[in-house]
Amino acid sequence: MSRNLLIFGPPGAGKGTQAPRLAAELGLPHIATGDMLRAHLREGTELGARAKGYMEAGDLVPDELVIAMLVDRIAQADAQAGFLLDGFPRNVPQAVALDAELQGAGRRIEGLLVLEVGEEEVVRRISGRLVCPNGHTWHAAFNPPATEGVCDTCGEPLARRADDEPDVVRNRYRNVYLAETEPVRGHYRELGTPEIAIDGTGTPDEVYGRLRHAVDEL
Ligand code: AP5
Repeated sequence: MSRNLLIFGPPGAGKGTQAPRLAAELGLPHIATGDMLRAHLREGTELGARAKGYMEAGDLVPDELVIAMLVDRIAQADAQAGFLLDGFPRNVPQAVALDAELQGAGRRIEGLLVLEVGEEEVVRRISGRLVCPNGHTWHAAFNPPATEGVCDTCGEPLARRADDEPDVVRNRYRNVYLAETEPVRGHYRELGTPEIAIDGTGTPDEVYGRLRHAVDEL
């Protein structure tokens, strides 16, 4: 049986903090479109060049670029028994495209895990965020690495993200997440897909405990 799950929530909700751990425990690939796009930026690909301006402004990269990238990724062998998607779908057209792709293979999204965190907490968290080139996420105060400036997981240097300035974060939260991404929940509700909302506040371990429990409830 396949297990196709979405982790969902506003920027800074903790998706990138929680999803790698959850995916590893469930034996699923963690597929994060933000990480994939940042890898394209670093590698200087044509997709990266086309995505750069949108990402720096905190706007969505055009659907045709992101959908093609995601469809290629979920066609790979490691995603055939399921996946934990993070950052996709970001609007209803992306959800419709994903559903159509899965339906062609007799699959569907089986559950949404929604991390709920308010705007002020999001801005507070993102203002201290540090990331490594492999997408591992830390926070200068709330979740610091053992050695300052170095990723505990892979030893790579840590840096701030270009789209983590407070004005850009508010754009991502208000104009993108609330306006375009939240409606994806309604789309899956209409399809009868199970959704569990999880309080995203508290320590990362507390949030993980709630998430793990939620997966068992799905
Ligand atoms: P993406 O990388 O997906 O960014 P996002 O959804 O805005 O999410 P974030 O990565 O900002 O937050 P997160 O929920 O992962 O939080 P994190 O765990 O890091 O997308 C970036 C851009 O790419 C988009 O703006 C867009 O341009 C483009 N893009 C991506 N996908 C796209 C798509 N499908 N379509 C079109 N464009 C797309 O946590 C945040 C901070 O808080 C960290 O420092 C962490 O250490 C800390 N923290 C985490 N949990 C806690 C806690 N419990 N307590 C205290 N601090 C905590």
